[in-house]
Amino acid sequence: MRMYDIIQKKRDGKELTREEIEAFVTGYVAGQIPDYQAAALCMAIYFRGMTVEETTHLTLAIRDSGETLHFDGIQGIRADKHSTGGVGDKTSLVVIPIVASLGIKAAKMSGRGLGHTGGTVDKLEAIAGFRTQLPIPEFEGIVNRVGCAIVGQSTDLAPADKMLYALRDVTATVDSMPLIASSIMGKKLAADDDCIVLDVKTGSGAFMKTLEDSKALARLMVDIGKRAGKKITALITDMDIPLGNAIGNSLEVVEAIAVLQGKGPEDLKEICVALAANILFLADKGTLAACEDMAKQAISDGSALETFARMVAAQGGDAEWIYHPEHFPKATYSQKVLAPRDGYIARVDAEGYGVSALLLGAGRNTKEDVIDMTAGISLLAKTGDFVKKGDPIAELFTSSKERLESAAARLLEATFLEDQKPEGKPLILDRVE
Ligand code: URA
Repeated sequence: MRMYDIIQKKRDGKELTREEIEAFVTGYVAGQIPDYQAAALCMAIYFRGMTVEETTHLTLAIRDSGETLHFDGIQGIRADKHSTGGVGDKTSLVVIPIVASLGIKAAKMSGRGLGHTGGTVDKLEAIAGFRTQLPIPEFEGIVNRVGCAIVGQSTDLAPADKMLYALRDVTATVDSMPLIASSIMGKKLAADDDCIVLDVKTGSGAFMKTLEDSKALARLMVDIGKRAGKKITALITDMDIPLGNAIGNSLEVVEAIAVLQGKGPEDLKEICVALAANILFLADKGTLAACEDMAKQAISDGSALETFARMVAAQGGDAEWIYHPEHFPKATYSQKVLAPRDGYIARVDAEGYGVSALLLGAGRNTKEDVIDMTAGISLLAKTGDFVKKGDPIAELFTSSKERLESAAARLLEATFLEDQKPEGKPLILDRVE
């Protein structure tokens, strides 16, 4: 089977067979297919799309490109959540301890930041000593003892995704529905969970910018999960506005702790409770309403916070930091960004806020960049708020003073002030079962 013929077939809008898709994935992982041919196929898929069958074949080929995990050592129902990526999205740090405190086993493998979006593994590394690489037996042991553990993706899991993702990142082929769906579901299916809840982000800070595309992506991933025998639900949640008030690694961990302490911003709390409730529901813990109450109770009685602190301690971090977040190091420099005129914040470009945080040092521009854990943004006014000229709309934090100016400019460019108060919209826009 010639790679040239596979590229040509997709370029001409025809449907690829399972054999052709498998030949591409195995050949690429084995180093027999060069990057330029893989990139050409990704671009053809970007323009021509894929059927559900083709996307399912691609997902399974990605799943089978490496080791598939069998957590035989973990007792109980295993569940996972996955976000398609957003700005200020620290929900895993709250949702995983909530469900673990209620008897679900969450052996979570998370990613690092991608482009303007943050990653859970980077955030956890803001806690001194926290280990995100654990041998599988130790990982399983912590999940059995504590209920949850969160680590970085094993290098042997879905290697085709790692290679394809890096290629897509530099060939403008990330935001393709079949490529995102197969990337996420290939990894999820390799990780052997019973229940999966997907948080499909939609809006200016998400990879899928329109509700229509986000719904289609959610439907596709749910269908693939069902075909693979998983219990799976997707929530479609707003990413036109960054989630919560904190963007950047330490700042986001501190905000997640606040939610676990029963404080923290309402938007973040609402999404975390909804995601946790959907996991509990899939795990047959009760009706959705009862599961929501359980999730809220796990926050108000402190059990979710305690579970998080135990997980942190088991993974080598200092649990004192969780009970006393004032231990997190602070940035050396800060600067308030002031409103240039009176008006309502009518909308923001959430991706621009993510880029502003990146410019402060909260993310990577190249794979080799070292993250400044203290860098980030604290939002002091959000969409719908009225501000007067000179009022602070955000505070920027960084260890490198020279980064402040460009980050402030990017944030202001991404903030749109108008005289009319914008209409509010729900945070949870749909649920796909
Ligand atoms: N997250 C992933 O894991 N893969 C994608 O393609 C996009 C977001």
